[in-house]
Amino acid sequence: MTDLAALETQIIADIAAAGDEAALEAVRVASLGKKGSISALLATLGKMSPDERKTQGAAINLVKDKVTQALAARREVLKSAALDARLASETVDVTLPVRETAAESGRIHPLSQVWDELTAIFADMGFSVAEGPDVETDDYNFTKLNFPIGHPAREMHDTFFFHPKEDPGSAPGAGGSRMLLRTHTSPVQVRTMLSQKPPIRVICPGRTYRIDSDATHTPQFHQVEGLVIDKGSHLGHLKWILHEFCKAFFEVDHINMRFRPSFFPFTEPSLEVDIQCRRDKGEIRFGEGEDWLEILGCGMVHPNVLRACGIDPDEYQGFAWGMGIDRIAMLKYGMSDLRQLFDSDVRWLQHYGFKPLEVPTLAGGLSS
Ligand code: DAH
Repeated sequence: MTDLAALETQIIADIAAAGDEAALEAVRVASLGKKGSISALLATLGKMSPDERKTQGAAINLVKDKVTQALAARREVLKSAALDARLASETVDVTLPVRETAAESGRIHPLSQVWDELTAIFADMGFSVAEGPDVETDDYNFTKLNFPIGHPAREMHDTFFFHPKEDPGSAPGAGGSRMLLRTHTSPVQVRTMLSQKPPIRVICPGRTYRIDSDATHTPQFHQVEGLVIDKGSHLGHLKWILHEFCKAFFEVDHINMRFRPSFFPFTEPSLEVDIQCRRDKGEIRFGEGEDWLEILGCGMVHPNVLRACGIDPDEYQGFAWGMGIDRIAMLKYGMSDLRQLFDSDVRWLQHYGFKPLEVPTLAGGLSS
C-alpha cells in the first residue's frame, strides 16, 4: 500500500514537473504505457487471491484514474501555455502591404499583348493564324516571292545569312537552299499557298530579322502578314479590312488612311498605308491632325508569286499586307524607343505591361 502511495506521489510529481507536451507524454508512457509502472502493477492482479485482487485492484485503478486525470489537466495547462507563447511570438503587422500572387504581380509584355489583340481582331473577321520557321531558305524568303536573283530589292533586306552548304543551290546569290533568318513574314505566304487550296484567309504573325539597330530598328523585330486568295478578291476588300482593323486596334470610331503607290516585288500594284494623326505633348490622336504615319505595306499578290506557289493566276487572285507589330505597339501605347521592348527591364514592364488575366477580346475590350 505504501508502495502504491509512493508511486502515486512520484507520478503526480513527475506530471507537475513536465515542462512541455513531449515530457508529459514520456511520463504517461512510463506509468500507463504497455510497460508502464501502473500497467505492471495491474498485471500482478492475476496471480492474487480473489480477496486480495478485489482490494488491490480497486486501489491500483484508483491511482490509475488519478494519474489519468492529472495527465489530462496538465496537458491542458501546457497546451494553453504553448498557445500563449505562439501568440506572443507570431505577432502580425496589419499595416504591411498585402503580397501579390504571381498572377497578380506578373505582367504581359506589350508585344505579346498587341500580338493577342491583332489576332483577336483578325480572327473575328474570319482569318486563321499560320506560322512558319524563323530559319528560312533564300528560295522562300526571296525567290518564290518574285525577288529576281541579283535584284537590288534583295540587298534592301540586310539579311543574316547562314554559311552556304555543299549543295550548289545554297551558293551565295543562287537564290535557292541557302539558309537565312527570315527578313519578313512573307515566306509564310508561300508556305500557306503551297500547303492549302484557295480560298485562303490567313494572318501570319512572327519574328523577323535584319542587320539593323537604332532607336527605330532592332535586329530582331516582329511582323504580321495577311493573305487572302480567292476568285474575286480585290483592293476594295483589302482597304475595308485594313480600315476596320485600324479602327478596332487603335480603339477609335473614325480613322483616316492614305494609300500611296509603292514597290514590293511580290505585289502588283503595291501600296503603302499611312494613318492620319496628331501629336500633342507626347500624346497621339488618330483620325485628325496634319501628321501621316506609315504603318504597313500591301498590294495585290503578283501573278509570279501565285504561279511559283502552284496557284493559277488566271483563276485566282488575292491581296496581302505586312505590318510591323513593334511599330503599331509603340504607336498605340506611346513608347518612344523600340529598343526598350527588348531590354527586359522589370520596371519598364511593370509600367507598360498588362495584367495576365485580362486577355484581350473584342467583346471584353482589347486593352482595358
Ligand atoms: N514584306 C514586306 C516588308 O517586310 C512587307 C509587306 C509589304 C508584306 C507588302 C506584304 C505586302 O505582304 O503585300 O517590307
